[in-house]
Amino acid sequence: MARTDRQSRARHHARTTNRDRLVPSFHVKPMSALLADSESAPLKRALGPLNLTTLGIGSIIGTGIFVLTGTAASQNAGPALVISMIIAAVGCVFAGLCYSELAAMIPVAGSAYTYAYATTGELFAWIIGWDLILEYALACSTIAVGWAGYATSLLRDLGLAIPPQLAAAPGVSLTLPDGTAVHGIVNLPAMVIVLLVAALLVFGIKKSANTNTALVLVKVLVLVLFVGAGAAYVTRANLTPFIPPNTGEFGHFGWSGVLRGAGVMFFAYIGFDAVSTAAQESRNPQRDLPVGILASLAICTVIFIAVAIVLIGIVPYQQLNVSDPLAVGIDATGLTWLRPLVKVGAVLGLFSTILVQMIGQTRIFYSMSRDGLLPELFGRVHPTYGTPHVSTILTGVVCALVAGLTPINVLSELVSMGTLLAFVLVCVGIVVLRRTNPDTPRPFRTPGLPWVAIIGALVCLAQMVALPGATWMRLVVWLVAGMVIYVGYARGRAARVRAVA
Ligand code: ALA
Repeated sequence: MARTDRQSRARHHARTTNRDRLVPSFHVKPMSALLADSESAPLKRALGPLNLTTLGIGSIIGTGIFVLTGTAASQNAGPALVISMIIAAVGCVFAGLCYSELAAMIPVAGSAYTYAYATTGELFAWIIGWDLILEYALACSTIAVGWAGYATSLLRDLGLAIPPQLAAAPGVSLTLPDGTAVHGIVNLPAMVIVLLVAALLVFGIKKSANTNTALVLVKVLVLVLFVGAGAAYVTRANLTPFIPPNTGEFGHFGWSGVLRGAGVMFFAYIGFDAVSTAAQESRNPQRDLPVGILASLAICTVIFIAVAIVLIGIVPYQQLNVSDPLAVGIDATGLTWLRPLVKVGAVLGLFSTILVQMIGQTRIFYSMSRDGLLPELFGRVHPTYGTPHVSTILTGVVCALVAGLTPINVLSELVSMGTLLAFVLVCVGIVVLRRTNPDTPRPFRTPGLPWVAIIGALVCLAQMVALPGATWMRLVVWLVAGMVIYVGYARGRAARVRAVA
């Protein structure tokens, strides 16, 4: 009888435990715990406002402006690319204002993931953290593919031709100089650059941040030169018709094309939130994070719109579906001295973008690991270099494989989709937090709430709706995989970590 009782209790316990495991946790991490984490983190506090702004610019200017401007103009929007870029900028500025309040209030590495933990609880924090992998890690791979386009083009100009099949993902069709059509096998240059960045990051944030500052100056200078030199060659003929008529397919020119163009070009603005992931390396995060986020976003928005107007003004948009559109733009002007500068600027500049995105990803992994949602090894910090070395190496290897094997349009649209979702959630989160934590000190307050958050969320949602169905499918598969890992692993581990804390 006693034995039967014991068995029945054991069965009941097993059933309860299994059921508990399936119930998502809405545990909210108290603000005091978040701030205590921030104080105790062994990351070095080395970054000031200028470092943070350059970190933001370094993270923003990349494959979006150097490569996707050509894709979006030739495939989606035509000269109305400028409108697409303004729509994308509006979504980002509004989301950036929301990010700034949260970043100053919760100055802990982990970005939107951490903010969700403090507002909507563990389940949503996990969903956002998982979603942010699409933004940061996948962006590293995307930018690496963009880098490879300019690097192989530069090497070709120098007489060092890499076989095109070894510089493109499987399935990408290529035309050889003799007219033969072939398919890509693997994008080796993209893989090499990701691994190189990971190696650099293992050796320390300060060294990497200084390198980043120099590289940011180079790419800003190249874009300013492009605008300054190209402006004189803009012709009205290239800008007419400003919105080419829709081809009959959603997203291909016409107003739906303008909106899809915004979704594609949104990728170009991604990165300002990487500033917030450096919260624990910042000397005065409450004051400097909003400065870094908003200043980098404002500077890049102005530069981007100027570059877009000049690019579509100097080349007919139909000619821009190439891997190095700014170089094609320069060719059209005949300013041959600028051609190598643009390519060198892109090669150096995109390198720095991969660097910052990878810093962002490893810092988010760091926070998730400390909360127990990821294995302990993602939170290990190197005793000498003070960097999360294991997570950096793992991120580098996975990003390199993805970069080597996936076409750029698949990657970039998925990054845009994942990031737009994160921004929508941040816009909602800030409104929730004003209600649930009205008394928490806010060193920076987003002006015009709730309207700024509502408009930010709606503009981001509209861009998501305009992205292709296949990208939606990939997002859903990714989120479902995330839920399986959450239920099967992360939730239980996080509860155990909380219990012993
Ligand atoms: N905004 C970054 C880029 O364009 C992600 O590469």
